[in-house]
Amino acid sequence: MRWWLFYGALSLVQAGVLGANEVLLHAEEDFHSNLHRYIDAAQQGEINPYADLEGFLEKAKEAQHLFPVSALHALNDFKLHKGEDSYLLWRNLPIDVDLSITPGEESAFPPPKGSFVSEFCLSLFATALGEPFNYIQEEGGNVFRNVRPAKKNAEEQTSDGFKVNLELHTETAFHSFRPDYLLLYCLRGDRGKKAFTLVSSIKRIVQELDSDTIAELRRHHYQTAVDVSFGNKDKTKYVPELLAVFGGSDSDPIIIYDLDLMRGVTVEAQCALNRLKEAILAVQEALLLEPGDLLILDNRRTVHGRTAYEPAFDGYDRWLQRVYVSDNDDFARNISLTGRVIRQEF
Ligand SMILES: [Fe+2]
Repeated sequence: MRWWLFYGALSLVQAGVLGANEVLLHAEEDFHSNLHRYIDAAQQGEINPYADLEGFLEKAKEAQHLFPVSALHALNDFKLHKGEDSYLLWRNLPIDVDLSITPGEESAFPPPKGSFVSEFCLSLFATALGEPFNYIQEEGGNVFRNVRPAKKNAEEQTSDGFKVNLELHTETAFHSFRPDYLLLYCLRGDRGKKAFTLVSSIKRIVQELDSDTIAELRRHHYQTAVDVSFGNKDKTKYVPELLAVFGGSDSDPIIIYDLDLMRGVTVEAQCALNRLKEAILAVQEALLLEPGDLLILDNRRTVHGRTAYEPAFDGYDRWLQRVYVSDNDDFARNISLTGRVIRQEF
């Protein structure tokens, strides 16, 4: 079985329609056979991240020397921010055989799984980019956060919502410790094929903006509310520090943005934010994730969202697992002392 990497070439989208120029075949080595010893162990439950997370992640690091060369090149280019797009989409990675039903609202962690292939694939790529972590507010800090529909959050701007579009955002824009990368592995796709993951890359966004707007977005004139999933249900709790939406250099800009939770504190700042919204929508791409797909987003150089969809709540709804990665050296050094769960309260 072959594995595939797509990057950068999915064309823009009007909601729900994939572009035609989408395939850039980048590698043809047989990923599955190279890594079969590890994948088999994960499938048999011989390595289990919920019993021994650090041991599981060590296995993933150990397996990286079996990465096909072209995969290493693609990851390195991605880390060096080459190209116009700041995401990678890997297709046809190994999947869990006899996958259990999609977790319900209250039983997501640990998920009802007897095999851990999805967690291994996530760990393989996550540890190649940095160190996996999560927040205490997200499934109690589970590093492999289960993303599935939850009726209680149906209309919320959270990953478990489904009735409304999840507006484009930087992951945890409000937080002082944001993920540098965000990984989404698809265990079960949306049968209705309506749940598109939306991505806009910063280098394409800035091409849509004039220099005055870019200059305004570089000022610390923006306020962001705390995410709903961090206990800010009525969206009234704002982080006191003012942020700049754009940072970095002209050749390598970075972005912090949340359409739903961010506002400008001056008229000019809000106007620039409105123009930015249009630019983000103009370059937006839509990806339909299928089982075995892994989407890797650079959280400093993309914003992402999701279109609305209609789950059936019959145990076979869309199911992703999400991993946050930090490439912060201090964080990595202190994991043995402080762990992988960020416990800051809001
Ligand atoms: Fe998100």
